[in-house]
Amino acid sequence: MTNVIAERVGGTDVTPASGGDHAEIAARVTGIHETVFVKAASSDLAVRSLRYELQASRAVTVPYSPAVAWDFETDGWLVAAFEYCPGPHADLSPGSPDLGLLRAALNHLGELQAPGHVPWFSPVARLGFTDPAMDGDTLVHTDLNPANLIVTPAGLRIVDWAYTTRAAAWLEPALLAPWLIGSGHTPEQAEIWLAQTPAWSTTTPEVLDRFASANAAKWAAKAQQLTAAWVHDLAAWTGRWAAHRSTKPASR
Ligand SMILES: Nc1ncnc2c1ncn2[C@@H]1O[C@H](COP(=O)(O)OP(=O)(O)O)[C@@H](O)[C@H]1O
Ligand SMILES: [Mg+2]
Repeated sequence: MTNVIAERVGGTDVTPASGGDHAEIAARVTGIHETVFVKAASSDLAVRSLRYELQASRAVTVPYSPAVAWDFETDGWLVAAFEYCPGPHADLSPGSPDLGLLRAALNHLGELQAPGHVPWFSPVARLGFTDPAMDGDTLVHTDLNPANLIVTPAGLRIVDWAYTTRAAAWLEPALLAPWLIGSGHTPEQAEIWLAQTPAWSTTTPEVLDRFASANAAKWAAKAQQLTAAWVHDLAAWTGRWAAHRSTKPASR
């Protein structure tokens, strides 16, 4: 596999990615022809996920989504190369200038319909719980955690379209709330920021209450079973958001 990659890019200098949990291999690969970001998978589950990500990435042709450069399969491996996005992960703490970049992308995403030719995840398949209010035809990335947001000299890039879902537009800001809280916002600050994106008000406060509570219950259950730090972080952040919504005045 590595020699096929080397041939494509013209020699290789491989730097593994610092973040991310899912791909078996994720690395920057530099050769004389190009620098690309390569993800590779061999287990059934990882191959299926990477295949879906390729399909989604090819269907999402917005400037903030890195283009697919090429892909191939060999010796049981699926290897996919994406446009390389140089730069740090976005800082989503209160007052960060990266929030302005994210807002612009969020507002644009909220208006995009999911193209019809991809078998997109449904909300229940993606999240493991259901609510008719989550159904819709908007393209929802569903994983705008800071490690999937790269601030490049050319602007914000959103990577990792492996969980993209066809759903109601409000789901994107709702799934972002815990990450804002994890980046230092109070739940109230997070909601004030999120309320400025039009998608937020395409649903009712009651639906957001139900969502925050179901999402927190899901991550609390996962935290009972798993020791990974990020699971416990998400359980804490989704829990804080749900607690905030359950104690608010009825009119929000
Ligand atoms: N196109 C890219 N250019 C530069 N870095 C990338 C690119 N895609 C992903 N990364 C980096 O690699 C990390 C892991 O990749 P990601 O696609 O998020 O996989 P995972 O499924 O493991 O989360 C990301 O958090 C990001 O830092
Ligand atoms: Mg990721």
